[in-house]
Amino acid sequence: MPAPPPSSAPALHIENLDVTYGRTVSALRAVTLTVPPHGIVALLGANGAGKTTLLRAVSGTLRHHRGALTSGRIRYGETVLDGRDPVAAVRAGVVQVPEGRRVFAGLTVDENLRAGALGRRSTTATRATRDRVLTLFPRLAERGGQAAGLLSGGEQQMLAIGRALMARPRLLLLDEPSLGLAPRMVERIAEVLRTIHDQGTAVLLVEQNVGMALALADHAYVLEVGEVRLSGSADELARTDAVRRLYLGEPADTTPGAAAGGQGAA
Ligand SMILES: Nc1ncnc2c1ncn2[C@@H]1O[C@H](COP(=O)(O)OP(=O)(O)OP(=O)(O)O)[C@@H](O)[C@H]1O
Ligand SMILES: [Mg+2]
Repeated sequence: MPAPPPSSAPALHIENLDVTYGRTVSALRAVTLTVPPHGIVALLGANGAGKTTLLRAVSGTLRHHRGALTSGRIRYGETVLDGRDPVAAVRAGVVQVPEGRRVFAGLTVDENLRAGALGRRSTTATRATRDRVLTLFPRLAERGGQAAGLLSGGEQQMLAIGRALMARPRLLLLDEPSLGLAPRMVERIAEVLRTIHDQGTAVLLVEQNVGMALALADHAYVLEVGEVRLSGSADELARTDAVRRLYLGEPADTTPGAAAGGQGAA
């Protein structure tokens, strides 16, 4: 297998981040989060909690959504990313796979992959990266000449991840890669993320599939209405009552003294 990307990985540090949309909607408040070099960090939370907003802040795409960072810092190693544009993030090695597995439907699979490498000079390195991506996703190799819009949902998700990998990220940001996929495809995506990580890329994973995310991640954060409600090692969080009840679908603990947030037992 070709060599993984360069391994001099920095950490991502987000400190006290506040984000608003259209100057009035407060989407994140005082959010502090770290992705260690080579770590896998899961970012969990209900709809509207601010997960996508946090990824947008890191990848420099907030302003495309009329969002703005009103205070706080985002650093990737020595590079300051707050207030920068997506090109700066990609140059620093931080690449986002957007939500909704967006691919260029009218372009072929190969063209989509090549689009992910735009701006990179060395064709030899690009070819090696493409080989690495196609080794990870043999389905994409079989369908190189096919229009991306004709791929299944799972294959489009693979292509979206593959395209991001073409930019040789040191930190990959993923927004709900398992959304709407059948269990077997979710497992496949999880395996691929594990491999990508083992090959030297850190991962910040936004997921509603909490079981999958906590199985993959070392560390996790739970966002609630724009604020970090819980954080800890993935194992710790998987044992936390609130996480088990709210996200893993387990029944409320009704033993006396348990902190039950829901309605009382009928
Ligand atoms: N472009 C936008 N303009 C105005 N408000 C927005 C915009 N994008 C998001 N918001 C608001 O910001 C808050 C956080 O949204 P965000 O999309 O980050 O949540 P999320 O955790 O990713 O949710 P989901 O799980 O549904 O994807 C929500 O209240 C949302 O309505
Ligand atoms: Mg979202």
